[in-house]
Amino acid sequence: MAGIKLVLSSLLIGLCAHYFYSTETITPDMVKGKKVLVTGSSTGIGEQIAYKFAEMGAHVMVTARRAKQLQEVVNKCLQLGAGSAHYVVSDMGNLTSAKNVSEEAIKKLGGLDYLVLNHIGGGASFGSFKGDMEAVLSSNNVNFLSYVQLTATALKALLESQGSIVVMSSLSGRIGAPFSTSYCAAKFGLEGFYSSLRREFTLNKSNVSVTVAVLGYIDTENAVRKVGDKVTMSASPKEECAAEVVKAAVLRQPELFYPFWGIKPLVLLRDWAPTLIGKLLDNFFVLDNIH
Ligand SMILES: NC(=O)c1ccc[n+]([C@@H]2O[C@H](COP(=O)([O-])OP(=O)(O)OC[C@H]3O[C@@H](n4cnc5c(N)ncnc54)[C@H](OP(=O)(O)O)[C@@H]3O)[C@@H](O)[C@H]2O)c1
Ligand SMILES: *[C@@H]1O[C@H](CO)[C@@H](O)[C@H](O)[C@H]1NC(C)=O
Ligand SMILES: *[C@@H]1O[C@H](CO)[C@@H](O)[C@H](O)[C@H]1NC(C)=O
Ligand SMILES: *[C@@H]1O[C@H](CO)[C@@H](O)[C@H](O)[C@H]1NC(C)=O
Ligand SMILES: *[C@@H]1O[C@H](CO)[C@@H](O)[C@H](O)[C@H]1NC(C)=O
Repeated sequence: MAGIKLVLSSLLIGLCAHYFYSTETITPDMVKGKKVLVTGSSTGIGEQIAYKFAEMGAHVMVTARRAKQLQEVVNKCLQLGAGSAHYVVSDMGNLTSAKNVSEEAIKKLGGLDYLVLNHIGGGASFGSFKGDMEAVLSSNNVNFLSYVQLTATALKALLESQGSIVVMSSLSGRIGAPFSTSYCAAKFGLEGFYSSLRREFTLNKSNVSVTVAVLGYIDTENAVRKVGDKVTMSASPKEECAAEVVKAAVLRQPELFYPFWGIKPLVLLRDWAPTLIGKLLDNFFVLDNIH
């Protein structure tokens, strides 16, 4: 009985918290003049996050591997009203280059308020694990270690500004999904690292917020190309996703679930009925199209 009461009351508290946060709003003056680095921002959700910050008058630094796309994103940020906009080219598979991104951002922007860790790469294809260690190592570098390197290099600036770290996770960072072993490993790693770091900040009263965004399937070009014919769930819009991420970051929320009703119930139930939740999620994969 006590157990059931505990579950029901935590459900209620969770829903109230969700309702409270979803009625809170942000205004441009909360962001104007802030210094923002967004990684993986040549396309996809990262590009949209850069535009959201730009619209509200932030100083924006974008980064990815492709200079031409980044130049276009910079131009659009300026049109939208960014205080300033710059880019730095980097391959996050190279930790020296990742370090350089945080250094360049702090140098160009004159400090840092928001470190938005969003890039995804490493080349692992969507499919069964066949023992390919190269794919695991490369994913670990691009999708996990570079996040930590960017954070390590930016830590001093973030402590000084009482800034924010935003980390893009996934349902696959909370529940193991098939056909994406390296991806799940990186996302679970990020969840561990940044939830631990968040506790340290709280305990030593550092006032640096850590927002982890737990996302479902989002309609970015790359995601749809990679898994569009392999999963049957419907994709949520990247623009709305980016707006929710920026709002959660500015409100210094510890976690964001987007789309909320698609993700949160699964995460809540996972510890109670892991086998059931696993089987439920298996239904979304088109096995004939997966190798
Ligand atoms: N879309 C979804 O369904 C979904 C679901 C859950 C979570 N998420 C998470 O949301 C975040 C954004 O996803 P997305 O779909 O927007 O990704 P995306 O469209 O594929 O964009 C990935 C970005 O990362 C950059 N990138 C790739 N490899 C890189 C490398 N080696 N070094 C530096 N930059 C690199 C890409 O630019 P270049 O190619 O120019 O380098 C691009 O700007 C990721 O963390 C992802 O895990 C997405
Ligand atoms: C760091 O980035 C700057 C700006 O793009 C570049 O000029 C410089 O060569 C980079 N340094 C390293 C060590 O990657
Ligand atoms: C990694 O990046 C650094 C600096 O950007 C560069 O000097 C070095 O050659 C790169 N290493 C590899 C293996 O590409
Ligand atoms: C923590 O930082 C935020 C943003 O910089 C600020 O609004 C807030 O007042 C700070 N809180 C404390 C307790 O210093
Ligand atoms: C708080 O923790 C951060 C991150 O670990 C560290 O850099 C900082 O020095 C600590 N501050 C204090 C006052 O202990």
